Amino acid sequence: MKKLSGLVMAMVFVFVLAACGAEKTTGDGQGGSDTEKKSVRVVTDANYAPFEYMDGGKIVGFDVDFVNAVAKEAGYDVKIENVGWDPLFLEVKNKSADMGMSAITINDERKQTYDFSVPYFLSTNKILVPEGSDIKSAEDLKGKTVSVQNATTGQSSAEKLLGKNSKDIKKFKNNNLAILELTKGGADAVVADNTVIEEYAKNNPKQKLVVIEDSKAFEAEFYGLMLPKGSNVKADFDEATKKIIDNGKYTEIYKKWFKVEPDLDKLKE
Ligand code: ARG
Repeated sequence: MKKLSGLVMAMVFVFVLAACGAEKTTGDGQGGSDTEKKSVRVVTDANYAPFEYMDGGKIVGFDVDFVNAVAKEAGYDVKIENVGWDPLFLEVKNKSADMGMSAITINDERKQTYDFSVPYFLSTNKILVPEGSDIKSAEDLKGKTVSVQNATTGQSSAEKLLGKNSKDIKKFKNNNLAILELTKGGADAVVADNTVIEEYAKNNPKQKLVVIEDSKAFEAEFYGLMLPKGSNVKADFDEATKKIIDNGKYTEIYKKWFKVEPDLDKLKE
């Protein structure tokens, strides 16, 4: 028995050596030539229609079309993986991913840990409630139960109103679960990005939901691609983003998803 495991160990050792050797040879050989396309690993939380969501096993959405267009312009291949919201942040932080793409708001807190691309989308938080709710403004959320996606700006907006450790804020790992909590009666409202809850209310008319706007309580937010600090692809992606905004490609993608013209001046401010 002892002899056998020794033999297995020896075989594993030889195999590992061979594998390292093999990798090294290709690395020193034709790998890394200048003409070869560079590849980036992009991580997302595909539970946020219309920005990123699963459709028949495929990740689709505005963000997906956007990042593909930017990468094409910049000469990169992209591989998008649906890892979920909280893991996405860890992966970008420890550089196992090159980029997070997930309707991610650029803010000061995140800027301490991450780099961001130039802004590519203007958003704001709004409130999703059942028709006939007595919630008419952000102020009315006080004393109510609010569900949010964990670690989003929706959560921080709710905390500003209800208090940081409020038991009345229910946190979920994705936004669809936060909405589900509302529709099954476990919460009075959801706070999340306007486009996402407006789309949800429109696509689910039987659930009789309405969206409340409160521009005094909720600030304008800009989405950016989130990168590890010191990212070596930031410059290429920023340049390509500006290019597709100027050459009409961005507008084409925007109109495909939102049916209206984007306000390009707001993005450039
Ligand atoms: N914009 C908000 C934030 O950055 C919510 C984004 C949530 N995105 C998602 N794919 N779940 O906090």
